[in-house]
Amino acid sequence: MKTDIPQPIRLEDYRPTPYLIDTVELDFRLDPETTQVFSRLALRPNPASSEANAPLILDGEKLSLVSVKIDGEPLAEGQYRVEAQSLTIGHVPQHPFTLEIETHCNPSANTELSGLYVSGGIFCTQCEAEGFRRITYFYDRPDVMARYTVRIEADQALYPVLLSNGNPRQQSAIGGTCRHFAVWEDPFPKPSYLFALVAGDLGSVHDGITTCSGRPVSLGIYVQKGKEDRCQWAMEAVKASMRWDEERFGREYDLDVFNIVAVPDFNMGAMENKGLNVFNDKYILALPGTATDQDYVNIEAIIAHEYFHNWTGNRITCRDWFQLCLKEGLTVFRDQEFTSDMRSRAVKRITDVKTLRARQFPEDGGPLAHPPRPSAYIEINNFYTPTVYEKGAEICRMMQTLIGPDAFRSAMDLYFERHDGEAATVEDLVSCMADASGRDLSQFFRWYTQAGTPQVVAEGVYDASRKQYTLTLEQRTPPTPGEEEKQPLHIPLGIGLVAQDGEDIPLDLEGLGRLNAPVIELTGRRQSFRFNNVRQRPALSLNRGFTAPIRLESNLAAADQLFLMGHDNDSFNRWEAGQGLGRALMIAACRGPLPEDSLAAYARALRQILEDPAADDAFKALMLGLPSESEIAAAIGSNVDTDAVHAARDGVRARLGKLLADTLSGIWQRTSEPGPYRPDPASTARRALRHASLSLMMLADPDQGTAWAMAELTAPHSMSAEIGALSALVQIERPEREDALDSFHDRHSGEHLLIDKWLLLNAQCIGPEAPLRIERLTRHPDFRWSTPNKVYALFAGFTAGNVPGFNAADGSGYRVVADAILRLDAVNPQVAARIATGFRSCKVLNSIRKSAAEAELNRILAEPSLSRDVFEIVSKIARV
Ligand code: PHE
Ligand code: ZN
Repeated sequence: MKTDIPQPIRLEDYRPTPYLIDTVELDFRLDPETTQVFSRLALRPNPASSEANAPLILDGEKLSLVSVKIDGEPLAEGQYRVEAQSLTIGHVPQHPFTLEIETHCNPSANTELSGLYVSGGIFCTQCEAEGFRRITYFYDRPDVMARYTVRIEADQALYPVLLSNGNPRQQSAIGGTCRHFAVWEDPFPKPSYLFALVAGDLGSVHDGITTCSGRPVSLGIYVQKGKEDRCQWAMEAVKASMRWDEERFGREYDLDVFNIVAVPDFNMGAMENKGLNVFNDKYILALPGTATDQDYVNIEAIIAHEYFHNWTGNRITCRDWFQLCLKEGLTVFRDQEFTSDMRSRAVKRITDVKTLRARQFPEDGGPLAHPPRPSAYIEINNFYTPTVYEKGAEICRMMQTLIGPDAFRSAMDLYFERHDGEAATVEDLVSCMADASGRDLSQFFRWYTQAGTPQVVAEGVYDASRKQYTLTLEQRTPPTPGEEEKQPLHIPLGIGLVAQDGEDIPLDLEGLGRLNAPVIELTGRRQSFRFNNVRQRPALSLNRGFTAPIRLESNLAAADQLFLMGHDNDSFNRWEAGQGLGRALMIAACRGPLPEDSLAAYARALRQILEDPAADDAFKALMLGLPSESEIAAAIGSNVDTDAVHAARDGVRARLGKLLADTLSGIWQRTSEPGPYRPDPASTARRALRHASLSLMMLADPDQGTAWAMAELTAPHSMSAEIGALSALVQIERPEREDALDSFHDRHSGEHLLIDKWLLLNAQCIGPEAPLRIERLTRHPDFRWSTPNKVYALFAGFTAGNVPGFNAADGSGYRVVADAILRLDAVNPQVAARIATGFRSCKVLNSIRKSAAEAELNRILAEPSLSRDVFEIVSKIARV
């Protein structure tokens, strides 16, 4: 058992630092084993600090200190103290002074991929959240903003490309040596987490744009040599993002250069370092034969996300890490809007809600629940969560709904005007929203500070004689760990009353009159809304567009849901009606065999949509995607048998597939590729529909489904086609599945990103051998514990993508994952902790599974040298 129990850090303890750092000059002598770092800092007492004469305590980790000087004078031994996490200087001048520090670090031994490390022979850095302290001693916190000048010196032949933040100032050979150097200067003050450095023998592609005020900007994307031809899509996305932020938010880029580097070893998706974004290469590299439609979509969205951080995150940063969702929620909201403008708004909204339900709802309803702005953490790296990102974005969206798009845009302008160059708080953003709109958002603010997904129960009653429709809403947020009592939230709900002809009845709300924006606001625990002049009994379409991230329960009859599925003017709620019906069918199927005709009406409604020539293929594909197993498990809520859930879900899908067989065949015929691969929305949608149809057919008629999949794989048209076929095949246990996986591996053995896809497909293979397959693959020569993408593909692919396998009743799935967590913890604790979150939903399971999972969690907790990262996640899950 861990003896030194890690202590939480609390928001209420926030204090400004006693000193400020105005400028930073860094000089790197790069070497894989011993990199020398010379740092020269201009410091001065912080007028905002109440501590006079305080010691200077800088953060530092895994550094060897060579020397410290103040104003040029070396400090003697007794004048400073070095500990595992800090450098303390007891007495420093109480006026501006210069601090010079020389340290060494070992980039090639850095398997945590935080700080300065080597990936595929390339030096690169990752400093968010607390990686800069692994490079040099510093105030490694976001409210200390400084101007950086960086000199990088390295062997010229091995590391011809030398990059850092800001603008390039100088690059030249060092006479008489094999080394060269470059100098970069970033004119904008920034926190240390945005520092970046890259050095290596990289290939690159270049382009440029002229900003709205006429300034030229050079764009560069740097990748492993030989991959230059895979950067075109990413480059187009950079240009589109820059244009969009100018047009939509009036935000112009502010440096002479914007560079992106792609590396194969990276803990997360990508990082918004000022002027030098570093990416996990799976979110840059794309050719039709190597990337799927989903990859193309992800690349575009993540490039946009990192680029948008330049204003929401970099120019205005966070005061402390509790404010993480200030930059992340807002930037996710911005990238969602970008994708909605570039592609289909309806499809984007539905996909985002699916992700929210698959990732954020389970978090918010389980042991890891936390508010979007938490008030305590043990390890900040554990708080890059769906709640901070996705729920954070939902909160921004709700503010836009409440105050309207025009006021929202003015509020954003005000935010940039007030806080440019500052480290801000969530309160600062919400104040701008309130000031720009004149609205009181004090109750609304609870969304940031209260955890849990609110449940709203809606009951509508129509009074034909009075032509009135009364809607009664009740809200309740279930308790979450540490928060028993919940306050009512301010919930904006899009609403429509749909007449039998499918038209919306004008909303005449008692007390307010005709509503311009069809949104009602629930603020009390229970509240009624009366609509007048409702000419006929309407079907209630509530939370249109998913205006609020809630769980909605209503007394809507199945007939109304079927009607809305076909006729609601809000396409989100058409999809949602289908989800509600599908969920009810699958839950019923978990309890016992479904009556013969129970699926008929649902299948008929689906067929109507699938055969409607006016409907979008992407929408059709989404309609075919039934709620996931974890969603069903969560809806059942307790004593869940995951095998039964899996069987029920597949059973419903198989029967639906049979009922729709002709329609699916028709789709299969008409969606074959007409020409070369194109990643545009219409072609992407066509393939999505094709593969959704295949997936259903695979269960309805495995012979037919396998035949289609094998035909697709014999002469694959694109990577999308290959993955579409294989993803359908992994659902069924047949020899063709194994042959197809083997030949995929052989065909793509030299391509690391495709091997990751192969690992993921293997992780998703359904069958009693699933845990054993995972165990076997950890010993495969292509698997690497030190590469996060490989670990995520195999283990997150298994915990999230193979519900019956991970939750195998004999506990073998839990065991193989727990073994991996323990093994990984020594290599990369951040990644180990992420894998551990896969256990978060175990409390809804039946008792054999629950106790098997608990045994594994306790085995992890018994490890004496457990990291803070894994300790925090596992101890929270094991507690309930
Ligand atoms: N800030 C990054 C993003 O949201 C995510 C990230 C966090 C990357 C921490 C690395 C480390 O785009
Ligand atoms: Zn981000």
